[in-house]
Amino acid sequence: MWWARPDDWRPELESLLDNAERERLGRLRRRRDRERFVVGAALARTIVADYAGTAPARIGLDRTCADCGAAHGKPRVIGCDDAVELSISHSGDRVVVAIALGKAVGVDVESPRDDAAQLLELVDDVLRPEEARRLRALPANEQAAGFLTYWTRKESLLKATGEGLRLGLASVAVTGPGEPPRLLGWSEATGNVEGATLADLRPGAGYVACLAVLGGVTHVVEECASDRLASIAA
Ligand SMILES: CC(C)(COP(=O)(O)OP(=O)(O)OC[C@H]1O[C@@H](n2cnc3c(N)ncnc32)[C@H](O)[C@@H]1OP(=O)(O)O)[C@@H](O)C(=O)NCCC(=O)NCCS
Repeated sequence: MWWARPDDWRPELESLLDNAERERLGRLRRRRDRERFVVGAALARTIVADYAGTAPARIGLDRTCADCGAAHGKPRVIGCDDAVELSISHSGDRVVVAIALGKAVGVDVESPRDDAAQLLELVDDVLRPEEARRLRALPANEQAAGFLTYWTRKESLLKATGEGLRLGLASVAVTGPGEPPRLLGWSEATGNVEGATLADLRPGAGYVACLAVLGGVTHVVEECASDRLASIAA
């Protein structure tokens, strides 16, 4: 797991983007969205390139969407002989890239929300009835963070399989806050999710993040990538 921040953005990082990514970047209006996108794309290439012993510019990311063919889907690595799988997530002041060898990964980070009441209006769309019941049994001041724990556990799984939010977060049953992260059931899963492993990450104050690995994981290493990105800019 490699963590970075939108503040790691440097103009030099944009030179690593391909044409499709530049087109998407051109459609992003808010500066923070642009920074998150560039840092995620540059970081993904850099980390894979370091692993493969090549230059970041030699690593391609194919984001062809399985639904519509546009370049906004699950990223797939091109230009690396080994079966490197990756996932990108960004929210608020965090950007994260997960990589694994030969196993599909999905990562999701969510930033703390100012408006807990608005967030909790989504409970019945995102959680199964039993999950919603357990969440509402928590003290009121723990419910927003608890909800994001459920959310990131579910979304990381949906990103590992490549379904994304197309399937709906309520299609996945997971353990909740205070319990070790685990997939409990997923009737609509298209791939083999039997050995899927979840790991809660440490994104820092107020943030919640989860990693899903299809086929299991024995250990997770979390590193800060800011210095690495700065070295590219230099
Ligand atoms: C992928 C998705 C779950 C992202 O959720 P999010 O919380 O807004 O954003 P995150 O920062 O956590 O993740 C975004 C990253 O997920 C990745 N991603 C996109 N689609 C993905 C998919 N189907 N599976 C796995 N990862 C995906 C991309 O790397 C993207 O980063 P990028 O902007 O650098 O390309 C959501 O956008 C989605 O479900 N998209 C697919 C459905 C859809 O809307 N399709 C568009 C119409 S065809």
